[in-house]
Amino acid sequence: MAQNPPLRFDPAFETTPEDEAETQRGLTEAMLGIQRTTHADTGYAHRAVHAKAHGYLRARFEVLADLPPELAQGLFATPATYDAIMRFSTTPGDVLHDGVSTPRGAALKVLGVPGRRLPGSEGETTQNYVLGNSPSFQIGTAKGFLRQLRPLAATTGRAEPVKKVVSAVTRTAEAALEMVGGKSATLTTLAGQAKTHLLGDSFFSQAALLHGDYFAKVALSPVSSELVALSESPIDTSGHPDALRETVRDHFRTCPGVWEFRVQLATDIDAMPVEDAAAMWPEDASPYLPVARIMALPQDTWSDGMREWVEDNLAFNPWTGLAAHRPLGSIMRARRPAYAAARAYRSQGNGAEISEPTGMPTA
Ligand code: HEM
Repeated sequence: MAQNPPLRFDPAFETTPEDEAETQRGLTEAMLGIQRTTHADTGYAHRAVHAKAHGYLRARFEVLADLPPELAQGLFATPATYDAIMRFSTTPGDVLHDGVSTPRGAALKVLGVPGRRLPGSEGETTQNYVLGNSPSFQIGTAKGFLRQLRPLAATTGRAEPVKKVVSAVTRTAEAALEMVGGKSATLTTLAGQAKTHLLGDSFFSQAALLHGDYFAKVALSPVSSELVALSESPIDTSGHPDALRETVRDHFRTCPGVWEFRVQLATDIDAMPVEDAAAMWPEDASPYLPVARIMALPQDTWSDGMREWVEDNLAFNPWTGLAAHRPLGSIMRARRPAYAAARAYRSQGNGAEISEPTGMPTA
C-alpha cells in the first residue's frame, strides 16, 4: 500500500456528541461502583480497573537522536534520557486468580519532562502512557463502552469459579478464531486472553494522541532477545494464582529488559479515525516507528517499597503530560473524569496522598 505523508492534526477531526457529558458521568459512576464493591469486599480502595498488578519496574527512557521532524515532536523533540516507572496489570476491577486470563495493561510514567502541560497537569513534570496489549480498544466510543461496561461491572466481586470456566471456554474460542486468522477483542476481553508470558507482549495506546503538529497511536514493544524469546511462551496458572507476577519477577531476578517506544503517525483520516478507538490503523499504510528505548536492569519487580508506593501513592493517567501529546477522541476524553474520580476515591479510601513524582524513590 502506498504510504502517504503524515497528516497534520486538524481540530475538526474531533467531534463531540451532544450527550457526551452524560455518557462521561455514567462511565465515571460505573467505575466508582466497581471501586466501592471491591473496597467493601477487601477493605482496600483498589484501582477501578486494572486492580491486579504483576510487577513494577524502574527504568531509563532514552529519546533517540536524529529523528525526522515529523517524529521529533513534543517529548521526542530533543534527544535526552529520563527516569521512568512501569506498572504491569490485568483489566478486571477485582483481584482474580490468573486462571481467569484477561487482557493486560502497561502503565508508563516518564519523570522530569520539560514542556507545556495539559490542562489539569500544570506544575507536574511527568509524561504518562497508559496502554493495553492489543492495537485497538474493544469498543469505538465512550457511549458504546458504557453500554458494554454496565453488565460487566455487575459481575465485580462475584463468581470467580464461574469466571475461570468462562475464561477457559473463551480462550478456546479465541484460539480457534486466531487459527483461521481472526482475532476477537470481545472474546479476549471476556477472559479469552491466551496464557502467555506477559513480558512477551506489546502494549498500545489503542486510541489516538496528538504528536505535536501531527497525531498518532503509540506502542511499547519488547526488543531485547530475552524478552522477545518470551513472546507467546505459555505460562502455567494451575496452582499458581499469581503466575504472571511470579514469572515477571523470575525474569528480572537475573535478566534486563529493553523495549522500543514506537509511534504510528496518521496519514489518512478515513482509515485512521480519531473518534473510533476500535479502528485498527493499517500498519502497511503507516508503520510503528521507534522514537525511544526503555531499558530496565535486573531488579526485584515485587519489592514491598515499590508496591506500596505505586499502589498507594501513584496514579497513571493519559491526561497527565505534555500538551503536545493530548489524548484525542471520545474514549480518551471519557478517561479524563473517570481517572480523576478513581484517583480521588483511592486517595480518600486509603488515606494516602497521590501525587506526581519529581524523582525516583531512593529505596
Ligand atoms: C484506550 C483505552 C484504554 C486503555 C488502554 C486503558 C488502560 C488502563 C490501564 C493500563 C490502567 C491501569 C493504570 C495503572 O497501572 O495505574 C487503567 C486504569 C483505569 N482505567 Fe483505563 N484504559 C482505557 C480506557 C478507559 C476508559 C474509556 C475508562 C473509563 C471511562 C477507563 C477507566 C480507568 C480507570 C478509572 C482506571 C483506574 C485509575 C486509577 O485508579 O488510578 N479506562 N486503564
